[in-house]
Amino acid sequence: MDLNQVINRKNTNSKKYDFAKENGMPEGLIPFWIADMDFPVAPAITEALMERVKHGIYGYSDTKESYFDAVSQWFTKQFHWTPKSEWLVKTPGIVPAINIGIQALTKEGDAVLVNRPVYYPFLEGINNNKRRLINSPLIKKDNHYEINFADMEQKIIDNDVKLAIICTPHNPVGRIWTRDELQTYLDICVKHNVKIIADEIHADFNLPGYHHTTFGSLGEKAENNAIICTAPSKTFNIAGLQISNIWIANKEIREKFLAIEATFGYCEVNIMGIIACEAAYRHGEEWLIKVKEYISDNRNYTEAFLAKYLPKMKLTKAEGLYLLWIDCNAYGLSPKALEQKIVNEAHLWMDMGDMFGEEGNGYFRMNIACPRVTLEQGLKQLYEAFKE
Ligand SMILES: Cc1ncc(COP(=O)(O)O)c(C=O)c1O
Repeated sequence: MDLNQVINRKNTNSKKYDFAKENGMPEGLIPFWIADMDFPVAPAITEALMERVKHGIYGYSDTKESYFDAVSQWFTKQFHWTPKSEWLVKTPGIVPAINIGIQALTKEGDAVLVNRPVYYPFLEGINNNKRRLINSPLIKKDNHYEINFADMEQKIIDNDVKLAIICTPHNPVGRIWTRDELQTYLDICVKHNVKIIADEIHADFNLPGYHHTTFGSLGEKAENNAIICTAPSKTFNIAGLQISNIWIANKEIREKFLAIEATFGYCEVNIMGIIACEAAYRHGEEWLIKVKEYISDNRNYTEAFLAKYLPKMKLTKAEGLYLLWIDCNAYGLSPKALEQKIVNEAHLWMDMGDMFGEEGNGYFRMNIACPRVTLEQGLKQLYEAFKE
């Protein structure tokens, strides 16, 4: 496996590479925005898919015990938490699961709490479902972010919050919340009868020295009050195969979730997603270790580059993810002007910080899960546009 190899993704229906015009972007930008990787998947995934393709019939499909065993063994080994098979609800993605969860756990007009800046589909899910968005902003200290628990609890009380959505690890700021932080979050929510959706899609991307605590491992109180959203899609670069594993231990919550899901008439998952997920969790660990090392090197490279050539761009200290959160406020540009400079002068496509809430103004998010030459070229273009 050569992660340095550049694979042409153009004309593959890739949202990252083939849809600039549709997204109002000029052609020719190097894309560092959407969160998928430019690396080929673990060979075991491709082999399993090819075997299945050879069969030639792709009818309605579902999973058997071996699928559950593969997924639960992964969680046991990586996160010391063993979910039960009856808790599992499979969906074609975590974003749909969050939207279903919002509908299952709240009604129109109810208050739902998030900690901005945060993955923008949380905000869209709350707004699209006509719930009230309550924001308890993260606070930045010593170049890393923390949850403001006092503010969060007060907002829960003041607004009669019914549901809180936590991004754990946190996209875009790159925190891997500690067990203590998650416990405090849980205790506050349970004290005020607030249900929780924990989005753990980035669980497997920890930088050396950090380890993700899965919400379920906090024990019965967490299991009983949370919908825990997990997926192999980020970890193994199979987002296009549309499968995620949602764990709902509380029977009442699970039934409500399934009842909302049923209103969409949605019932089966994609056969290729099933095959890829099982192969990934059974045989993908070695591949993942190499990819994480490569990403960690890419991060170190970027940090050194920015410190040397663009010292006004401040890389937020991260603990995980393959997404960097870069502060450009020292340039004094409005969010629009910053974007225009990145697009029209650096010829790069980033996710701009204000998409994650106004707390992200002046930042951009950069996906570094790409071969080093792509990253080098991107940083060179950034330098040409921003050098002083
Ligand atoms: C925090 C988070 N949740 C969910 C998703 C996407 O989930 P899905 O593709 O399974 O709907 C992403 C993708 O970037 C993400 O960063």
